[in-house]
Amino acid sequence: MKIAITGKGGSGKTTIAGALIRGLAEAGHTVVAVDADPNPNLGISIGLPRDSVETMEPILNALLASGHTHNDPTPDPDDLLARYGLGAPNGIVLIATGKIERPSDACLCCGSHNTTRQFFGSLPSDHRTVVADLEAGLNDLMWARPGPDDTVLVVAEPSAKSVEVARRACRLAESMGVQKILGIANRSNGPDDVARLAEILGVEVVPVVEDPAVERADHLGVAPFDTESGSPAMLAVAALVERLVKA
Ligand SMILES: Nc1ncnc2c1ncn2[C@@H]1O[C@H](COP(=O)(O)OP(=O)(O)OP(=O)(O)O)[C@@H](O)[C@H]1O
Ligand SMILES: [Mg+2]
Repeated sequence: MKIAITGKGGSGKTTIAGALIRGLAEAGHTVVAVDADPNPNLGISIGLPRDSVETMEPILNALLASGHTHNDPTPDPDDLLARYGLGAPNGIVLIATGKIERPSDACLCCGSHNTTRQFFGSLPSDHRTVVADLEAGLNDLMWARPGPDDTVLVVAEPSAKSVEVARRACRLAESMGVQKILGIANRSNGPDDVARLAEILGVEVVPVVEDPAVERADHLGVAPFDTESGSPAMLAVAALVERLVKA
């Protein structure tokens, strides 16, 4: 199973991805967590200490540092995972696709960048569950190339702009042949928010309520899955995990 999580900036993608990844791993899945944000911070949301996340070498940075160019063969995604993946709780392997540290003088549309952007799409998932926390907006969703068997979770807050990005993401995912698209009404204030979002997105929507426990964990730099597991938002993600596991 492969799951890509997309939505507008700040809509709650990483928070939800982190709890979902931990939940799937606790449910017995072998999970690869792909942090596709060039400002990676999924590690903290899955319960890793900041220092350990900082030791991770993202694929793009490693390839560029090794002098890899678009003339070189495309590296095998499993080989990249073995080299640059970081062990996380519950047997999860976390990998970051790239991190912006300085201006790049390399071509941005091929070679290493291409390898990086297409990592989610190219990683086989026959014996594991791959979950990608994508960069905000639609570009990363396009490059990640989810296919007909994959699941796309589209996260939206109640704001009109967040909902509009989510609507566009749903249409983009549909145009790529994705059949399992699920909306997440994050910070929702009740059934009206959920119904409104479902109508606009044209897909089924599940709620994750606005939850001070999530903010508390965020301020401490810890995973709400570890410190606030009984909170309403974490219970909503747990219900989502159960649903995905059954499916
Ligand atoms: N259900 C919720 N209740 C309360 N706060 C939340 C909830 N979901 C997310 N947040 C808070 O909203 C902020 C943004 O969340 P998060 O980083 O997960 O968003 P994101 O979509 O990954 O952002 P970015 O686009 O920058 O990657 C964080 O401070 C997080 O703690
Ligand atoms: Mg994020």
